[in-house]
Amino acid sequence: MAELKNEYCMHTATCGELRIEDVDREVVLTGWAWHNRDHGGLIFCDLRDREGYVQVVVDPDCVSAEDFEKAEHLGREYVLKVVGKVRARAAEAVNPNMATGEIEVLASAITVLNTSVTPPFAIEDGIETDETMRMKWRYMDIRRPEMYQNLLLRHTVAQAMRNALNARGFLEIETPILANSTPEGARDYIVPSRPNPGKFYALPQSPQQFKQMLMCAGVERYYQIARCFRDEDLRADRQPEFTQVDIEMSFVEGYDVVDMMEGVMSEVLEAAGVHVEFPLQRMPYAEAMDRFGNDRPDIRFGMELVDITDIVKNTGFKVFSSVAQAGGVVKAINAKGAGDWSRGDVEKLAVIAEENGAKGMAWVAFTTDGQEKSPIKKFFTDEEWEALKAAMDVEPGDLLLFAASDYATVSAVLSALRLAMADRLNVPREGHSLLWVVDFPMFKYDEDEKKYAAEHHPFTHVFEEDLDKIEDAPLECLSYAYDLVMNGFEVGGGSIRIHNAEEQKRVLRRCGVSEEDIEVKFGHLIHALELGAPPHGGIALGLDRLVMLLAGKASIRDVIAFPKTSSASDPMTGAPNAVSPRQLKEVNLTLPSA
Ligand code: AMO
Ligand code: AMP
Repeated sequence: MAELKNEYCMHTATCGELRIEDVDREVVLTGWAWHNRDHGGLIFCDLRDREGYVQVVVDPDCVSAEDFEKAEHLGREYVLKVVGKVRARAAEAVNPNMATGEIEVLASAITVLNTSVTPPFAIEDGIETDETMRMKWRYMDIRRPEMYQNLLLRHTVAQAMRNALNARGFLEIETPILANSTPEGARDYIVPSRPNPGKFYALPQSPQQFKQMLMCAGVERYYQIARCFRDEDLRADRQPEFTQVDIEMSFVEGYDVVDMMEGVMSEVLEAAGVHVEFPLQRMPYAEAMDRFGNDRPDIRFGMELVDITDIVKNTGFKVFSSVAQAGGVVKAINAKGAGDWSRGDVEKLAVIAEENGAKGMAWVAFTTDGQEKSPIKKFFTDEEWEALKAAMDVEPGDLLLFAASDYATVSAVLSALRLAMADRLNVPREGHSLLWVVDFPMFKYDEDEKKYAAEHHPFTHVFEEDLDKIEDAPLECLSYAYDLVMNGFEVGGGSIRIHNAEEQKRVLRRCGVSEEDIEVKFGHLIHALELGAPPHGGIALGLDRLVMLLAGKASIRDVIAFPKTSSASDPMTGAPNAVSPRQLKEVNLTLPSA
């Protein structure tokens, strides 16, 4: 798998491949001078290429005086060609931590193919280098073995995806980058069109509309490793341009795509060397929200949300009873192991609750020596208190954290606290857990815009039994939408699509799209649906996120060769850049003067 071959190039062996069996082999190696050591008379150089590294020994008795002199002046990251012979290391010099640690290469000739100025940082794994520096000198960063391994894993995953999809009759087809706007919920990147003054392309947020058109075209099974562009606030798991494995298939309904993807994912994970039991759990959205407070639960640990609204409905603690009586909810989590935390440490957690919309964070600590500490206990009757303890399965050493508000706020607060407590308590989260979250609501209400919007996207098919609620009870409509969730991250999302033009128009209208915009922005889709569109559905996997999780990294930037900073810039090339007045004029743009 992606092994460097010793043909069509200068070397006859790679630095990482030599073993004790190769003793006496004459080799030509190429690579970078990594660690150079002068041991009085003998010079040692670890020569590194992408496959690994090997110790080269330069003995003045075995090379020309000229070559020895070169070896004496090797700098870090010099590019070398070394001719030599493999020999076994003396027993005391064997390095068991090194793949090539039983041998070394005794040089007979050295060519310096290129020199290097002093590198901006050491080419070593695990060193703390400022990330902007790493991005500015990205080609140096990728020389680090760990970064190379990340790109190799990404390649392996992408190829395994291709193999799995090819084997199932999917065709790899490219779709335009200069495209029109597709509503995936982020801002568009726009590109002015020179021959069409005043008009703009939008870079695709996803190939969604094109892949549906390919189904209307009768292609039946499509995939693409597609670059997508979204101008949104960046986080560790988001980049302005990222890659989807984008998939669509015809004549599917219900959970057909989910079933198909189980096979694809099991093959891909196996290729990546990860074992996961299939079939995966399928959890309805409502259950994920109830138990974990979000739609991408990390199910590798418990600390689930418990609804105690009924228990506290009439309690003397008015914060709870007033919320319960006004139709809100009161829930809690049990952070086992935090019962002995100081009051100060517990109360600092309220910041997390407040960031997520809570007005406060009530708590109860059960210390390991049997005390009950809480500012709210005094408001409870003995009966309520016992019921609370039973519902929360309390033992000494537990800390209960509460949220009382509307369902959405309580969910956001407790899901954030649950993850924060898991981090702080070092709750074990080994291995990988994957599940499907299914049966998403079709619509959500956008408070800022004061209108309904699609929860997934407006091309998603509504449950047949909910179709007559689109106009009058949109929040009650469920849809054939599904997300693939891994270790608490959404790594994929898809749906069965609307293939009926009338349903499509109703959903767009419900999302506040005007009749005119339905024709102007979605006319091509509506016409395609009117012209014999087959039932179809699909999914897109976030390749960067998947590889990030498989590589055990905390940021997708570590698995992208040339990522952008949090301000969407590239410190290496300087993009985005100013353009010349002439370029602006050519595309009919004037900038507001500063
Ligand atoms: P969605 O918007 O859920 O669906 O995107 C699919 C997957 O892409 C990944 N992803 C991202 N990765 C990195 N940076 C980003 N900014 C980013 N945004 C999304 C996520 C996500 O699960 N057209 C639909 C798919 C479909 O219905 O078939 C779509 O794009 O892992
Ligand atoms: P108060 O009566 O406002 O002093 O609050 C008493 C306790 O309840 C404090 O610990 C608050 O942080 C907490 N509290 C206040 N509002 C909420 C809420 N909406 N949900 C959970 N706890 C709250």
